[in-house]
Amino acid sequence: MNSVLVASNRGPVSFTVSDDGVLTMKRGGGGLVSGLSGVMKDDGVLWICAALSDGDRGAVRQAPGGRLDQAGYDTGALRMLDIPPATFHRAYNAVANSTLWFVNHLLYDIPNAPLFGTKFQREWESYRDYNGAFALALAEEAGHEARVMVQDYHLTLTPAMLRAERPDLRIAHFSHTPWAPPEYFSLLPDEVAREVLEGILGADHAGFLTGRWAGAFMDCCRALLGAEVDLTGRTVTHEGRTTHIGVHGLGVDGVALWERAHEPDVESNMAALREQVGDRRLIVRIDRTELSKNIVRGLVAYREFLLAHPEWHGRVVHLAFAYPSRHDLPQYREYTASVQRCAQEIEDEFGTEDWEPLILNVNDDYPRSLAAYRLADVLLVNPIRDGMNLVAKEGPVLSPRATLVLSREAGAAAELGAHALMVNPYDVTGTAIALHDALVMPEEERMRRRELLEAAATALPPQKWFAAQLDALA
Ligand code: F6P
Repeated sequence: MNSVLVASNRGPVSFTVSDDGVLTMKRGGGGLVSGLSGVMKDDGVLWICAALSDGDRGAVRQAPGGRLDQAGYDTGALRMLDIPPATFHRAYNAVANSTLWFVNHLLYDIPNAPLFGTKFQREWESYRDYNGAFALALAEEAGHEARVMVQDYHLTLTPAMLRAERPDLRIAHFSHTPWAPPEYFSLLPDEVAREVLEGILGADHAGFLTGRWAGAFMDCCRALLGAEVDLTGRTVTHEGRTTHIGVHGLGVDGVALWERAHEPDVESNMAALREQVGDRRLIVRIDRTELSKNIVRGLVAYREFLLAHPEWHGRVVHLAFAYPSRHDLPQYREYTASVQRCAQEIEDEFGTEDWEPLILNVNDDYPRSLAAYRLADVLLVNPIRDGMNLVAKEGPVLSPRATLVLSREAGAAAELGAHALMVNPYDVTGTAIALHDALVMPEEERMRRRELLEAAATALPPQKWFAAQLDALA
């Protein structure tokens, strides 16, 4: 039996299966996985995640009780749940990614969506089943009075379900996303909104990345549940139970990141990029191709910058790395197409025989991203809304001279805002001006800000972030 358990939708590894049935394992992606992977190999910590693909299901079926580590994979203690594909699809794509993600990132095109009918009721049932499968697995694996750390919007119902099964456990939930204000959160059907809030309140400790998202959650509990909320003491009391609310601003492990970014594969990518762009100044962005990342407005801002500043033509290149994400959802496929269209328009309008103003890369390439960080003069991070945004924190660790242009709607703004050039993500003219200001910033100021940014970005590395939440359950 285990004394510390973690549960998340995506796990530390994923598998692909070739036509002849051979499984290949690779590291899982995204902020949650990067945060947790570094801290999870400790003895006694079991990670429970879902099988996301046919490759994952193939691997689970060959592993005793879904324990991949016991099937010989070097994953740390890991149990992967083989949830029926149709249930998983409705829970992950329809509810978690198309509903809860949209609500908390304020992404709906309100005149047309959301629309909650009988189809959604079936999807919601699947979300319940999927959360129930996690609760059951956790109840099976947890030792007496074990501490359980449930992650993110995929698993909002699991804490309350688990508490009903195992009242002896100490349970935490952590949200890696923003939280919506009550007037937007209440777009959800009333009973669904209630279930989500009460699900998280099943935990003893509910963690958020910033005070702003914690405050929004507490506002929702008060407005929608009539819960008793202490904003200063950060507690929510509902139906006789009190949940403590914590703010844990996940940062980066500066040393590990720096070492990884100085390995030979990164050095060779740097040489290749330098060869491609010459000695031109570089504006870099690195994102999943995700609606909330605001890539199209970022490109439009770059276009406005080029229009306003012809003196930079031929002297600057925008490296935009936009890696594939959630391609099962039509909105994401359409968004990727818009990004590509917009990039092509900029190329057509400004490109010359010896100057490529924009290089868009849509293939996942980690060493190349690390190389781009190291070469950046400006790092553009302009999300519509973001839980934290680890790119904004990785950049200052790796870029010896980059200035950060940062959206005020990113969670990272709470810690980095004072040392970055802040922008309203909808104001592309303002963003274009910030890009120019960043490029012409005097060397001394650029270095001073970078040092402050690096200190803030590494203040709470994953190990400490995790330990603080475990301590909160002690
Ligand atoms: O921001 C929340 C989060 O879980 C991140 O950890 C991660 O970047 C992203 O969402 C993962 O999305 P997905 O697992 O759907 O690719």
